[in-house]
Amino acid sequence: MLGARHTLFLAFVAALEVALALSLSPRNTTVQSTQQLLTAYQLLNATVGGRLRSAVPLEKPCFSSYEGKASAADPAACAAVQANYTDPTYRVTQFGGYMLPQWETCQAQASDGCLLDSSDPTNPLAFKGADCRLGNIPPHYITVKSSSDVQAALAFSKKTGVRLSVKNKGHDYKGRSSGKDTLSLWTTGLNSMSHSAKFKPAGCQTTYDAITVGPGALTQSVYEFADSVNRTVIGGYHQTIGFGGGYFLGGGHSILSPVYGLAVDRVVQVKVVTPDGVLRTANACQNSDLFFALRGGGGSAFGVVIESSHRTEPRITIQASVLKFTPSASDDLAQWYSLMVNQSYGWAQAGWGGHIVGPTLVHVNPLLNNTAAKASMQPAVDFVTARGGSVVVEELPSWLAFFNKYVTLAQAAVGPELELGTRLISTSVFTSESGRAQLMALIKENLPIASPYIVAGTPFNFKAEQGATSVTPAWRNSVWHLSVKAQFLYNTTLAERTALYNGLETRIQKFRDLTPGSGAYFNEGDVYEPDHEQSYWGANYPKLLAVKRK
Ligand SMILES: Cc1cc2nc3c(=O)[nH]c(=O)nc-3n(C[C@H](O)[C@H](O)[C@H](O)COP(=O)(O)OP(=O)(O)OC[C@H]3O[C@@H](n4cnc5c(N)ncnc54)[C@H](O)[C@@H]3O)c2cc1C
Ligand SMILES: *[C@@H]1O[C@H](CO)[C@@H](O)[C@H](O)[C@H]1NC(C)=O
Ligand SMILES: *[C@@H]1O[C@H](CO)[C@@H](O)[C@H](O)[C@H]1NC(C)=O
Ligand SMILES: *[C@@H]1O[C@H](CO)[C@@H](O)[C@H](O)[C@H]1NC(C)=O
Ligand SMILES: *[C@@H]1O[C@H](CO)[C@@H](O)[C@H](O)[C@H]1NC(C)=O
Ligand SMILES: *[C@@H]1O[C@H](CO)[C@@H](O)[C@H](O)[C@H]1NC(C)=O
Ligand SMILES: *[C@@H]1O[C@H](CO)[C@@H](O)[C@H](O)[C@H]1NC(C)=O
Ligand SMILES: *[C@@H]1O[C@H](CO)[C@@H](O)[C@H](O)[C@H]1NC(C)=O
Repeated sequence: MLGARHTLFLAFVAALEVALALSLSPRNTTVQSTQQLLTAYQLLNATVGGRLRSAVPLEKPCFSSYEGKASAADPAACAAVQANYTDPTYRVTQFGGYMLPQWETCQAQASDGCLLDSSDPTNPLAFKGADCRLGNIPPHYITVKSSSDVQAALAFSKKTGVRLSVKNKGHDYKGRSSGKDTLSLWTTGLNSMSHSAKFKPAGCQTTYDAITVGPGALTQSVYEFADSVNRTVIGGYHQTIGFGGGYFLGGGHSILSPVYGLAVDRVVQVKVVTPDGVLRTANACQNSDLFFALRGGGGSAFGVVIESSHRTEPRITIQASVLKFTPSASDDLAQWYSLMVNQSYGWAQAGWGGHIVGPTLVHVNPLLNNTAAKASMQPAVDFVTARGGSVVVEELPSWLAFFNKYVTLAQAAVGPELELGTRLISTSVFTSESGRAQLMALIKENLPIASPYIVAGTPFNFKAEQGATSVTPAWRNSVWHLSVKAQFLYNTTLAERTALYNGLETRIQKFRDLTPGSGAYFNEGDVYEPDHEQSYWGANYPKLLAVKRK
């Protein structure tokens, strides 16, 4: 039987051997020989209908050397990569590309990767005469079509000892969706979307107006779909995030979260293949411990998500406030942030949520009418007007109208090698004069390096069900999710990277010291977060650990 199968696969062996040769030799697996591993891969490939693929870096066509060997560059393919290098809608289609490209590489080695110059992708210094390496990109992946692909990969992993990783839309800031020597499950193609006005989680009585999505549905597509059925979905500030993947698994903030909660507050059911290979339905009425874990304990820590269902809201009229100016006086930017620190608590109470980065504010409010919205934003409007900036406080008919008009232009950049340090800034900081002064002093220290990125996207006014989610409870007692950043280039040396990470560490530590007992957002945290169990999950950690052990 095995012999017959073997013959059947001989046809593929030659191609596979070339593809696999690279990845097989140095692996730490439980199978004894390279031949056994090759056979196991061939069986896996047949089981998943030939959808096992070998990966190459997105940037490879620009290089004339790959893994230390001469390899012809492809100028036309290289030009396409260069032209689209910082376009998320392009990057998201490429297995060998990640939104934060340092995660394509092994950062602790001088040049184990294949990066272009993100500030000028045509810069030949990045690729002329340089060697391209697979780095931290998984050498093989399966384009997942159904839960049985996941089950096949789990069985393969158990047999061979090859580790698995899960990639969806590749937005991870922490490198969790790549992984040297792993077999990757690419869930991007599971992108179905459906709507039910009376969705009933299996085994429950309560119904919800909900949409059900595959992990690979793009956030922008989910917004368009919800709008087409006259509903609103609460989600992130970017077109290509995997709404039903890493986004909700790690928490999921929206600028509508101050009123409608985090993504973990809104998910009502998840279908997930757990590490034992069983496809389970988790909701409040069955597998409720697993459901708790999936509401903030993710990415792939508790299994591979096949679909998830999320409550919707009716179509909402949105007040949008979009303010910008060009700082001229030397303390303009510091004064602006001081105003933001002073106003943010009141804005949060009034239902505003949004982003502040440098001299730009984009906020939305689903509760106020336009008159009240203008009154509430008046101090900021006056500040910007006095500096000749641009001011809009307008009413838009829907979330989608707002998203299309403003977010696609203002969303965070992809392509550059960005590293984050973040902190949830406690409400108590904003309600005392000394707290505000201390916060402002820290912001001021950072301004010469880079403006802190502020997300007013905590579930400030949302009444969450006690104990239902596993994100740190600090989310519910904070006004801001604040980030400071560092940035690499393709040629940043190891010593420079170390210095950049250390500098980031020093800067974010001061915000931690200002907010003892608070926490940080798991999906957008520092990769060197100290006491990360406490920061990301707080009092929920022991229960999460128990579910993980189970
Ligand atoms: C430009 C940009 C803007 C962002 N904006 C926001 C925002 O507005 N709000 C916000 O909350 N976050 C935001 N994020 C963070 C984002 O939510 C996380 O990066 C999230 O993890 C992305 O999920 P993904 O599935 O797209 O990414 P991936 O990198 O593919 O996956 C992220 C993690 O989830 C796991 N995972 C993905 N799919 C599955 C699955 N089907 N089953 C099991 N595990 C899975 C992966 O293994 C990995 O651990 C942003 C990130 C970027 C890069
Ligand atoms: C190989 O994996 C085993 C089990 O995970 C581990 O104990 C061992 O240290 C690994 N060896 C190497 C060389 O990485
Ligand atoms: C898996 O099989 C298909 C043909 O069925 C082949 O095209 C593909 O290259 C194989 N995958 C690998 C990694 O060799
Ligand atoms: C890349 O960008 C160019 C120019 O903007 C465009 O014409 C092309 O279609 C893009 N290529 C891909 C593969 O998306
Ligand atoms: C869409 O929803 C809004 C808000 O619930 C409602 O007022 C409106 O009548 C709906 N429109 C249609 C066409 O169903
Ligand atoms: C913010 O409030 C403090 C006092 O609480 C005040 O000193 C400061 O000037 C205010 N900032 C702005 C820009 O108004
Ligand atoms: C706007 O809202 C305020 C506060 O709720 C209310 O007093 C006012 O009448 C409203 N104005 C209009 C034009 O609806
Ligand atoms: C990296 O590249 C940039 C742009 O090409 C250049 O200005 C810089 O000097 C280089 N740095 C190092 C360390 O080589």
